[in-house]
Amino acid sequence: ARGALEFEERPETLAAIEEAIHRCGKCPIGGLDNHAVMGEGPDRAALMIVGEQPGDQEDLAGRPFVGPAGQLLDIHLGRAGIDRRSAYVTNAVKHFKYVMRGKRRLHQNPAAKEIDTCRWWLEAERKIVEPRVILALGASAARGLLGRTVSISKVRGAPIPLGDAGSGASELWITAHPSYLLRLDGAAREEQERLFAADLAAVRARLAEVA
Ligand code: URA
Repeated sequence: ARGALEFEERPETLAAIEEAIHRCGKCPIGGLDNHAVMGEGPDRAALMIVGEQPGDQEDLAGRPFVGPAGQLLDIHLGRAGIDRRSAYVTNAVKHFKYVMRGKRRLHQNPAAKEIDTCRWWLEAERKIVEPRVILALGASAARGLLGRTVSISKVRGAPIPLGDAGSGASELWITAHPSYLLRLDGAAREEQERLFAADLAAVRARLAEVA
C-alpha cells in the first residue's frame, strides 16, 4: 500500500529503510524516472552528513555525493581532517527531482512539503546511526532535520541541539551546500570556500571533543 507507508512501523535497520525507500510513493518525486539513493556509511557513526537530494550522477550511481558537489565536499573533508568513510552520508530527500531540458535532467529544488514527507526516512536513519554531530549541507538538509526553514548565514558557526527521545542527543551544524559554492566564482567563491572550510574545521574540533 504505497500511500499508507507513513502508517507503517518505522524501519529499524538501514537495510529495511533501503528496501522501503525504493518503493516509496509518498511524494511525487518517487514517481519520476529515478532511483532512491540510500545513505552510505557505518550504521553507527559519530558524524552524519546530510545533503539535499541525489543529483543526476548520484541517481545513476546509486550512491550519495559522487558528482561535482561530492568531489568538492571530499576535498574540504580531506582538508578538515574528516574521514568521509567514518561518517554516515545521506540526503534529506531520497530521490532526484528534475525537469527535462532537451536531453538533460535539470535539478529542481525539493518543495518544503517534499522534504517534510521524506523526514520519515531521515529520522529513521538518525535513530539507527545515532550520530553525536550532524552536518547539514544547505537549507533543504537543515529543513529535513529541523522541520523549518532557516537562513544559513544566521545559523552557521554554532550548533543547534537536537535532543529527542530514542535517538540520543545530537547537535546540528549547518553550513552551505557545496553546489552553491560551485555556482560562484572570483571573490565570492573564495569567501564562501573560506566560510565552508571554517564550518568543517569547527565540526572536526567538536568531533574530537564528543566522539
Ligand atoms: N547534492 C546533494 O545534496 N546530495 C547528493 O548526494 C549529491 C549532490
